[in-house]
Amino acid sequence: MCGIVGYIGFREAFPILINGLKRLEYRGYDSAGCALLHDGHLNVYKAKGKVSDLEHVAETKDIKGTLGIAHTRWATHGVPSEVNAHPHVSMSGQLALVHNGIIENYAILRQRLMEKGVKFYSETDTEILVKLIEYIKDKRHCDLPSAVRMALHQAIGAYAIALIDVNEPNELLVARKSSPLAIGIGEDNREFFIASDASPIAEYTKQVIYLNDEEIAVIRRDEPLKVITILNHEVEPNVQTIDIDLGMLSKGGFPHFMLKEIFDQPEVLRDCMRGRLLPDKVVLSAVENYKDRLLSARRFIIVSCGTSWHAGLIGKQLIETFCEIPVEVEYASEFRYRRSTVDERDVVIAISQSGETADTLAAIEKAKSKGAFIFGIVNAVGSSIARATDTGVYIHVGPEIGVASTKAFTGQVLVLSMLAIALAKAKNCIAQEDYLTLIGELGCIPDKINKVLEQNDRIRELARIFTYAHNFLYLGRGYNYPVALEGALKLKEISYIHAEGYPAAEMKHGPIALIDSEMPVVFVATHHKLHKKIISNMMEVKSRGGRIIAIVTEGDEDMKKIADEVIEVPETENCLVPLLSVIPLQLLAYHVAVAKGLNVDQPRNLAKSVTVE
Ligand code: G6P
Repeated sequence: MCGIVGYIGFREAFPILINGLKRLEYRGYDSAGCALLHDGHLNVYKAKGKVSDLEHVAETKDIKGTLGIAHTRWATHGVPSEVNAHPHVSMSGQLALVHNGIIENYAILRQRLMEKGVKFYSETDTEILVKLIEYIKDKRHCDLPSAVRMALHQAIGAYAIALIDVNEPNELLVARKSSPLAIGIGEDNREFFIASDASPIAEYTKQVIYLNDEEIAVIRRDEPLKVITILNHEVEPNVQTIDIDLGMLSKGGFPHFMLKEIFDQPEVLRDCMRGRLLPDKVVLSAVENYKDRLLSARRFIIVSCGTSWHAGLIGKQLIETFCEIPVEVEYASEFRYRRSTVDERDVVIAISQSGETADTLAAIEKAKSKGAFIFGIVNAVGSSIARATDTGVYIHVGPEIGVASTKAFTGQVLVLSMLAIALAKAKNCIAQEDYLTLIGELGCIPDKINKVLEQNDRIRELARIFTYAHNFLYLGRGYNYPVALEGALKLKEISYIHAEGYPAAEMKHGPIALIDSEMPVVFVATHHKLHKKIISNMMEVKSRGGRIIAIVTEGDEDMKKIADEVIEVPETENCLVPLLSVIPLQLLAYHVAVAKGLNVDQPRNLAKSVTVE
């Protein structure tokens, strides 16, 4: 959701900005723009649509300059259009600014400035910032950093901003609150790179600073970076060395990032297990270090959104089954506003791929303020959520670029499985034999996923048959119920086909009314103690003419007799089945969307990292 890139140094900025915007395309956006400072002129170019449209617009223009900022905008206030695209410029045309986040009190600030004669051209909340900064600068005769500080004092909401000034060709200003911003430091401070995450920076430098909330960085060529707070206290920048595999940022021969990421799963899950899943034990340092705090909790509350929420539903079953600790799973967006009984006796587990989801971050802050202990399960290293937690476990599946989450889901479920097993052992409530069986089975999961992936061609064929459908129903029980929800979400996200996930037995309380010959029903029906009951549900669908696609355990002859189409997954422990049964559903959604000719990696209206409410 919105991406910022900036450069100040000795190289031409434009190619770096465009390259960086392309790296951030996965976040989701609908317009793009850039501003370059060259020979005392500010050149601003914008385009509705893709970064390639922006390149096209700039083709015949002056794209010179070694200082520039750029942006991809995901529309919140105002339609996607050239005028609403960033950068926005000040009244005099001397300042240009890009912004991620939402300024909640923009209407009142705008009204006040309009009364002073300031004019506005866009419908955005962002334009207010650049106009307010210039207004303060002129009125108070202060320097740019002071004007930025004062303006941000007045702004309520979330922001990551980057700002350049025609009169300061040697300076780039950035600031953040609740929206991410990373600064890459080139050799000898000769150049600096800024971006919403480290992926556009990684190919130039490994030295990165992640700004904290309410910090402003004053970046000047050939000078050490200066970081101040909006209260004007200087802070020591915390420089980190990042380790991003650049191969992970490319499609590696696959037609889409999503397919690559589905196929990455065996390998990245091995990475996630490395050093944690040993032949005879599970070692999670967060559990070792905080064992007493975790085991003395009266309950766990899992907060997350989207796919991460589905992983949380599986986590609840794992932790309640193996650790006998009550677990609630909450949508972060609901939890943050509801009156809740959370207090210091609770452990809150925040699950997030991006580590930047605004609702999850706000849910953490709320739980923290009530004294709860916060445990993070995050993918993006150094992200806001990772930094806001007391401890946690990174899922280490590498950057996920496709908007529809795939490898992050299995990474989250894997970490939750290891967490449940490690906690159960620490609590002494799992038999040694069961403990070793689960460890052994977890170790086999990557090879078993490979076996499911071998059915890719068949699933592609199957998908073609079902592209006609307008509705899909996904049903599952127990550990496969969240998988059914996730399968339905994948399909609707990228194929725009309406799909609903339900616990299989709930079908008779409503969805059964929808079933006819036009309605494919996907049963996630691996071996389970309620196997016979699922067969009854299938018969109910069959007798109403519904078409059944069943995900079954290898060799399940009963299901094969009933279902129209069957996809087999290898046998595993029931609690680990989601790691296998979700794979065919990811592939099914992918191939349906491809067959419909849709933009799989950047589906309409969706964003990868939802940094606004
Ligand atoms: C967006 C993404 C989803 C993701 C959800 C939660 O909606 O498109 O794929 O599951 O946000 O994001 P998080 O990064 O917190 O897991």
